[in-house]
Amino acid sequence: MRVEPAVAVVGHVAVPGDKSISHRAVLIGALCEGATRVRGFGRSGDTQASVDAVRALGVEVDDLAEDELVVHGVGLRGLRPGSVDCRNSGTLMRLLAGICAGQEGEFVLGGDRSLQARPMERVAAPLRRMGAQVETTDGHAPLVVRGAGTLRGCELEPEVASAQVKSAILLAGLNAEGPTTVVERIPTRDHTELLLAAAGARLRSRPGSVTVEPARALRLGEVAVPGDFSSAAPLLVAAALVPGSDLTVHDLGVNPRRTGLLDVLERMGARVSVFDRRRVGGEPVAAVQVQPGELVATEIGPEEVPALVDELPLVALLASHARGETRVGGASELRVKESDRIEAVADALRAAGARIRATADGWTVTGVPRRLRGGRIEARGDHRIAMLGAVAGLASREGVEVVGMDAAAVSYPSFVEDLRALGGLR
Ligand code: S3P
Repeated sequence: MRVEPAVAVVGHVAVPGDKSISHRAVLIGALCEGATRVRGFGRSGDTQASVDAVRALGVEVDDLAEDELVVHGVGLRGLRPGSVDCRNSGTLMRLLAGICAGQEGEFVLGGDRSLQARPMERVAAPLRRMGAQVETTDGHAPLVVRGAGTLRGCELEPEVASAQVKSAILLAGLNAEGPTTVVERIPTRDHTELLLAAAGARLRSRPGSVTVEPARALRLGEVAVPGDFSSAAPLLVAAALVPGSDLTVHDLGVNPRRTGLLDVLERMGARVSVFDRRRVGGEPVAAVQVQPGELVATEIGPEEVPALVDELPLVALLASHARGETRVGGASELRVKESDRIEAVADALRAAGARIRATADGWTVTGVPRRLRGGRIEARGDHRIAMLGAVAGLASREGVEVVGMDAAAVSYPSFVEDLRALGGLR
């Protein structure tokens, strides 16, 4: 797809429902008693994989609309053993591994080539400590999980700051004897904790750790999913970069463990305002408005990474338009996302004329306060890189040819349509 330089990105928009919360609503809904109605479901390649996964394990799901479904829960130990194709979704594979660990029988979890390249010992090892049998294929998918109907609760500290690993352990902990504690030095997104609490699970969050007690029964009833901050991010960054822009995203999830990009945008000099703040089903929601400003370089270290992990590619793009040298470090996790995002971003932005160097755990970007030249960007089958390419094109002088734009459908199928409606695409 060819993306021409934008005149301005202007208007009001709502983005599809949060991907992390949509996965969790389906997976936790499957463990509930009775029906869970999910409104604002963010249907995408990844979340559809979760719907199909629970169906494959004996759960009925009624599709009421593109963004609404009903999950008929089978209870905490009611999943039917079987095989699941997790496709491109690391969140699905890791959370489901934790759920299967507390079921009876054998579950086989596979995925596409990208998912098969991603590390799975980080989730297998703690589940084994809890008493499940988990085989990986040289540390990767396919995974074979033989659940132990009852697991051992224990205290675990994941080897990396990962919401997926934390969630897998907490979900397994529902079917454990005694409490299960996850220690995390750097806080990661807490959507699992919020949804489990809403379902009646007993959880205790303290600074640095979270504990779940064994559960007898869960009940959600209804989940309202806010807009996905990570889907809004490319639009917000486009508005920060293209002169004359003024964009407001409404009904957006603004959980503080997800919105690190807003702090970075402000610090770099964009104009950001957050208003209409409220809570929807335990999650903070607001409207976010972004206008451009003169951008200056910044520094990002490990403590800040989990709150903007999926937005770091966009930060590198902002940095290439900002006066001075930006350093992003402590983000080696990016090497094991849907692609090696450290290399993918460096190659993509360099191809568009940026001065960016990949390091072991991030980038060094030397910015200039003017539009990038443009060029040709390969998505490498990675949705976040495809959307980065489109935004780079809007902000460029000559436009960008994005090879593999269709990858965006993994998280945000209407991305191109929404960008066009805001005047970003000609
Ligand atoms: C996610 C957690 C993050 C994030 C991913 C979604 C989640 O991954 O990158 O897109 O829904 O829990 P890690 O837990 O591996 O950091």
